[in-house]
Amino acid sequence: MPVNITDKVKNVIKRDKRIMFTSTREHYPFVVDHGSGDFVYDIEGNRFLDFSSFISVYSFGVNANNEIRSAIKKQIDKMMHAAFLDYYAELPVRFAENLVSMMPRGFGRVFFSNSGTEANEDAIKLARLFTKKSYMIGFYNGFHGRSLGSLGLTASSIKQREHLGPFSNVVHALYPYPYRCPFGTDDPEECSKMCISHIERNILGKEFSAKEVAAIFVEPIQGEGGYVVPPVSFMKELRRLADDNGILLVSDEIQSGYMRTGKFLAMENFGVTADIYTLAKALGGGLPAAATIAKSEFGDTPAGSHAGTFGGNLLAMAAGNASLNYVKRNRRKLEGMAKTKGRYVMKRLNKMKEDYEIVGDVRGIGMMIGVELVKSKKTKAPAVDERSAILDACFQNGLLLLPAGVSTIRIIPPLTIEQSHLESGMDVLEEQVRIAAKGKKG
Ligand SMILES: Cc1ncc(COP(=O)(O)O)c(C=O)c1O
Repeated sequence: MPVNITDKVKNVIKRDKRIMFTSTREHYPFVVDHGSGDFVYDIEGNRFLDFSSFISVYSFGVNANNEIRSAIKKQIDKMMHAAFLDYYAELPVRFAENLVSMMPRGFGRVFFSNSGTEANEDAIKLARLFTKKSYMIGFYNGFHGRSLGSLGLTASSIKQREHLGPFSNVVHALYPYPYRCPFGTDDPEECSKMCISHIERNILGKEFSAKEVAAIFVEPIQGEGGYVVPPVSFMKELRRLADDNGILLVSDEIQSGYMRTGKFLAMENFGVTADIYTLAKALGGGLPAAATIAKSEFGDTPAGSHAGTFGGNLLAMAAGNASLNYVKRNRRKLEGMAKTKGRYVMKRLNKMKEDYEIVGDVRGIGMMIGVELVKSKKTKAPAVDERSAILDACFQNGLLLLPAGVSTIRIIPPLTIEQSHLESGMDVLEEQVRIAAKGKKG
């Protein structure tokens, strides 16, 4: 049944536009009321199937799952917040120990904050404090947050940076985007080599000496930039390059980590271990929590050099720890879900790629999947308007999807989504792709 946008819904949107800063991009006329099962409902009772996990937050069920909810309720009655600037509490320590047990060997230090942006900000400061170097390398199409430090690393859309600079101490490198390699080759391995050699020859050879570069920040799969999956060889070579030059490697797994790809850490898919990881979104089980996790040797940071009032908030820690306990108990099951459901989505999308000219590229790992739309397979011109039309039509038909990059749609339902719901959502998407492609076969 098409979604009914009533006066009540329009009224909230009107009030929102009057009172809120308009810097966020609210696209859909969706006024959220509650979530249940795989569905979310607006204030008029319109029902939506969630293929967005509210940007990779609800990886283990819309509105979290019962375990997470009851942990939050229990903690409310004890105490909601304690200031870790001044006191200790056992719960954040327990959650940190629990988190570290999921990390590769040697990772023993955790800093809790409230958002992905802050986790990266913390990683920037940690890298500088530890190495006593100040420059950073990020990647084009990368997204690491919007505070002035993390925004310096972000380079996925000009709208996010315009009039906000200057940003100091960051240089951007080229990320191997196999479908649109910045060096023009169609061979992903060659693309990977050229991107690495560009960093070595041009950035470290001409712009900054490696002696000045503290860290390389990389997303194992670029999220906001378009769900771009690099070749395995790229990440391995990046690790080698960082080691050869005494530079730290920071893996921003805020969108791709925490089982989204089927592995706890997205870097595991590449057989690479970073020096620092940043996690957020799914980590808080629906509450604002983020973590910067580093090898033990980076941990002795000078007292007073970094802290925050709400980092380690007890409610967020209760939710996060319950969510992590759920992950630990169900790790194999979640891994299997990401694999089999992801495989199903990829199969449907690859068939659509064969059938429709508009479907240019399909890519992803586990349940982090992107489909890039193009005007024609030959020109690869981005089908921007067509993507908007498809997203809007899916919304009208009760399916929540989000864009990424210039003309990509991301498909990131909760890993726990029922197979029948996954199938019906894919049917809705395929029908709208067919309409946008005007029924044309590829
Ligand atoms: C890879 C990545 N890093 C950082 C962030 C920023 O996280 P937050 O919005 O929680 O500040 C995001 C958000 O989408 C992200 O995808």
